[in-house]
Amino acid sequence: MNVLGVHVGHDSSAAMVVDGRLVADAAEERFSRVKHDAGLPVRAIESCLEIARLDMPDIDVVAVPTEGDLWPLNDLLDLFGGPHEQSPEMARAARAAERLAGGGLVHPPPRRPVWARRYPLTPGTELVKVGHHLAHAAAAHYTSGHRGRQLIVTLDGIGDGLSGAVWRGEGGRIEPLEQFDGTGSLGWFYGNVTEALGWRHGDEEGTTMGLAAYGDPGRARGALDGFHPRYEGGALVGPHEFSAIHTWREHGAYQWHSPEAVAIAGLATRLGPENVAAEAQRVLEEQVAQVVNPWLEREGTRALACAGGVFLNVKVNQRIWESGRVDRQHVYPNPGDGGLAAGAALHTYHAANPTAEPTQIDHTYLGPAYSSDEIGDLLRARNLESEQRDDLPELVARMLAENQVVAWFQGRMESGPRALGARSILMSPTEAENKDILNERVKYREAFRPFCPSIAAECAGDYIERARPERFMTTAFDVKDGKREDIPAVVHVDGTVRPQTVEREANPGYWEMIDAFGALTGEYAVLNSSFNVRGEPIICHPRDAIRAFYDTGLDCLVMGDNVLTKPRSAARRRAPARLGS
Ligand SMILES: [Fe+2]
Repeated sequence: MNVLGVHVGHDSSAAMVVDGRLVADAAEERFSRVKHDAGLPVRAIESCLEIARLDMPDIDVVAVPTEGDLWPLNDLLDLFGGPHEQSPEMARAARAAERLAGGGLVHPPPRRPVWARRYPLTPGTELVKVGHHLAHAAAAHYTSGHRGRQLIVTLDGIGDGLSGAVWRGEGGRIEPLEQFDGTGSLGWFYGNVTEALGWRHGDEEGTTMGLAAYGDPGRARGALDGFHPRYEGGALVGPHEFSAIHTWREHGAYQWHSPEAVAIAGLATRLGPENVAAEAQRVLEEQVAQVVNPWLEREGTRALACAGGVFLNVKVNQRIWESGRVDRQHVYPNPGDGGLAAGAALHTYHAANPTAEPTQIDHTYLGPAYSSDEIGDLLRARNLESEQRDDLPELVARMLAENQVVAWFQGRMESGPRALGARSILMSPTEAENKDILNERVKYREAFRPFCPSIAAECAGDYIERARPERFMTTAFDVKDGKREDIPAVVHVDGTVRPQTVEREANPGYWEMIDAFGALTGEYAVLNSSFNVRGEPIICHPRDAIRAFYDTGLDCLVMGDNVLTKPRSAARRRAPARLGS
């Protein structure tokens, strides 16, 4: 059974599930280079079909993660008629838009030009709608590998009118237990604070979380009380009437503005932005606990699966883990709306195959790969010199030990928001100043945001408290006493890290590089940041990698077995004090 998931909206994306296995997943932003691209995922679909070696007539079901109107999909899937026709559904939507605009619609409703790429549904292909939060829940549950009863919690801004839901996953089935409408949106609350602090709602919440560690929630205690919903005992007891959230389309992506952000910005000026961020983080952790903990108890389970944008917050996930209430905590590695296409496709497969059990996702290398030949041709066509090497792990480990900044472009691109050793920028974690060096030369982002380590899975327990396999950088952990000084470039000001534990089977080359770095320096961990520059999506194509390499202070780019360096890179090499110790 071949199921193509297609999500159109914030983080438009496509995913392919073949006989229950997620074989491809990519967001349109990676191809268009527009972060959070909300357009039609034309190139994402193309990539998924190519990876699965399928054509549209081979697809049994197209699954879309919404209960809403399908009219945006008409252009893509040719649902209702020829290229110049307007479906009755589209005509209704256009009339509604006109009414909203007070009858003064300046532009006629959009219609697809003849040349626009589309994927017409063939008569044998079924179209299935899966609710937004059910798609989030399915992504979490069916990739958790947990076969017994599991609590599933989905929390985000809003989707299909809901901001959150609680589900029971058991025996391959998902049943709804509770749902919360827009007045319960913890995602909007945290997004509004993020906007108030000067960053993008629905994008830069991680920056708010990073800043929070520098603040004291006590100095802004209660200041945000009028801005968030309140949960107790697993129920929404204090719904919050959010002021209208305004949507603004910018360069192909949605942006949001809330009038409440103006008032919160005033608080930040008065109380200090770091203290307001810290209070927002405290509130979020407290409120999520009020949803999760009572339901864990009620369901009598210690297994939890989560998805929805709120669970991008690694400190929230850390609190849940540290509560001691869960033995298994699975956060879907692409918890935001970019994971909806995969979720809708997984749900559709499992609905048709009710006895199929959840399987465990062990990697997110679900995007396109480019062969060494392709990369070699591309480099030659650009007159770029590169060296072909067959000792990449050792070579890169040595360069990192010499404190160089290396871009690592290997194999299939990761789906989801984290670079996990396929499109990564690497540096040694052993020098505190590397954080600033990387920010200055490559990433151009706020100095207070932490970088993260990739740790050889076998050694995770040496570095972090309450260690467990953490393949996808979804949770923060406290660093063990005495270890903070050893990897200072990846430890946040509050003594936590957001690690990726790397298993050899999941990514052999990457694991071997970390192992070789450990043999040289004694630390079996490297700094791993996503291969992109601030505000851009993660690199997908070798072309993007070349552009980023020459547009930043990267020392080296290893792409397939091709190694590119810059003439002056060697001059900046500096052996760290502990090398060889
Ligand atoms: Fe969502």
